[in-house]
Amino acid sequence: MSTTRPKVLITRIIPEVGVRLLRETCDVEQWQSNEGIPRDTLKVMLADKDACLALVTERFDADLFAAAPRLKVVANFAVGYDNLDLAEATRRGIMLTNTPDVLTETTADFAWTLLMAAARNVLPADEYIRAGRWTILKPGACLGQDVYGSTLGIIGLGQIGQAVARRATGFNMRVLYHSPRRVPDVEARYGAEYREHKADLLREADFVSLHAPLTPDTRHLIDADALALMKPTAVLVNTARGAIVDTDALVHALTTGRIFAAGLDVTDPEPLPADHPLMRLPNCVVAPHIGSGSFAARDATSVLAARNILAALRGERPPSLLNPDVLQKA
Ligand code: GLV
Repeated sequence: MSTTRPKVLITRIIPEVGVRLLRETCDVEQWQSNEGIPRDTLKVMLADKDACLALVTERFDADLFAAAPRLKVVANFAVGYDNLDLAEATRRGIMLTNTPDVLTETTADFAWTLLMAAARNVLPADEYIRAGRWTILKPGACLGQDVYGSTLGIIGLGQIGQAVARRATGFNMRVLYHSPRRVPDVEARYGAEYREHKADLLREADFVSLHAPLTPDTRHLIDADALALMKPTAVLVNTARGAIVDTDALVHALTTGRIFAAGLDVTDPEPLPADHPLMRLPNCVVAPHIGSGSFAARDATSVLAARNILAALRGERPPSLLNPDVLQKA
């Protein structure tokens, strides 16, 4: 009969392990479709909620916060948080959280998956066989680029970028990085070389892997000018956010052979329409934003997002609070 249990909205189907944690002390409402919540429905559902466990596809801005007068915390089911307006949330006393660390290694694995698949033409090779064209061993079929001993350029050396760099040592690669800050530890451990200017990294790298957050500064960081600096044999990998790359410029670069290939886990727009030009390019591997999609990482993300909510609702500091200024307000 208690009416004091906090009300939580979960905006997508996520692993049960976090949902169960929330249900122990909260009334949980969960959007049960794998289609996203229409924005107007989201507003109605948020009207009486104290907390929301959200996907990056939900944009929490002043307009949405205005529809959620009781909201105390939004827990992103993601490490990236370009969908959250931090200043507006802080102004309203709402805590925002993300899920760092739990998906670092899984996402780095996937950046490498895309890198290898794009470098060695895994998709065209698979298609070649399925189309019945495998009639005899042809030494000239599906030729790709060597990974071992090549140069990897990492843009954004946060936790995931560092995990990608760590894997490069096994491939005897030279590692370059461009980031707002130098990371001496990574330079010492993996011999990574800092490039202050993005252009220098783009000119030198055989593989360019993006690990920067999406901000006004990084939107279209890889545009036509950037692609023009890359080697014609280079491969671009994006497991960060689609809008860091200018999609039209990338389509042009891949179509004209300006670069060799791309591996994309994120795109702009996302999802890509089925008839999008990127979908027709044999030198582009596209995945549906599954970089952190291992069973273990998804479970851990579910638990961390739930813990963030539970801490906030208890009036404690959530483990991965994004806007600590909000605590001063409280
Ligand atoms: C996924 O996109 C994430 O930011 O965790």
